[in-house]
Amino acid sequence: MKYEAVIFDLDGVIVITDSYHQKAWKISALEFGIDYKDEWEEELKGLDRRESMERLLKLSEKLLSKEEKKKFLHRKNELYLELIEGLNEAVVMRGVKETIIELRKNGIKTAVGSTSKNAMRILSLIGLTDLFDYVSYGENIKKGKPEPEVFLNAAAHLKVSPSKCLVVEDGEAGVKAANRAHMDCAYLSKKRRSPYAQYNIEIIEAILPIVFS
Ligand code: BG6
Ligand code: MG
Repeated sequence: MKYEAVIFDLDGVIVITDSYHQKAWKISALEFGIDYKDEWEEELKGLDRRESMERLLKLSEKLLSKEEKKKFLHRKNELYLELIEGLNEAVVMRGVKETIIELRKNGIKTAVGSTSKNAMRILSLIGLTDLFDYVSYGENIKKGKPEPEVFLNAAAHLKVSPSKCLVVEDGEAGVKAANRAHMDCAYLSKKRRSPYAQYNIEIIEAILPIVFS
């Protein structure tokens, strides 16, 4: 088999929480006098909370004091936690569970690779924690995407060489992180294509023939 492990991004690949991040940024930004534009979403995907805020401030050309930044970050996460409170299995992306089960049946190791500090909480809310051999996320790494640490940490725990890992991503920062980790990447999107990913897929099941080839 071409790959021995698959590392999945969480927000936007396993579960629809990418839209919750955007909603929380939008509402908190407005509260801080920032006119959030929906087209910024792609630029923020995968960046950690602080980096996302810094990018947002740059895009909106807004200056905030150190104290205001602290409040902004706190407020964004507060809103995000409110939004995910009611999460359950119903919000898992279509085909995800079946695809992961099929991989595991064939001896492929599986991990999550997410910058989010809330990743464990989300996995437990949607009941998928047991489907992964390891969860690499915001609480056990120092640098988020586009740095490669989140994926290299997963590979090290799975004991699989990076060249035998396939990353599944829906954000450009994540594709960059996979490139930097020397891992192949399948970019999952119905609307866009990534020139930096080895594969562009529209549905998650499409990774099965890639992994088993
Ligand atoms: C990533 C999201 O998975 O997690 C980003 O794509 C988000 O949008 C990042 O900023 C950090 O999330 P959290 O939950 O730690 O604020
Ligand atoms: Mg994502």
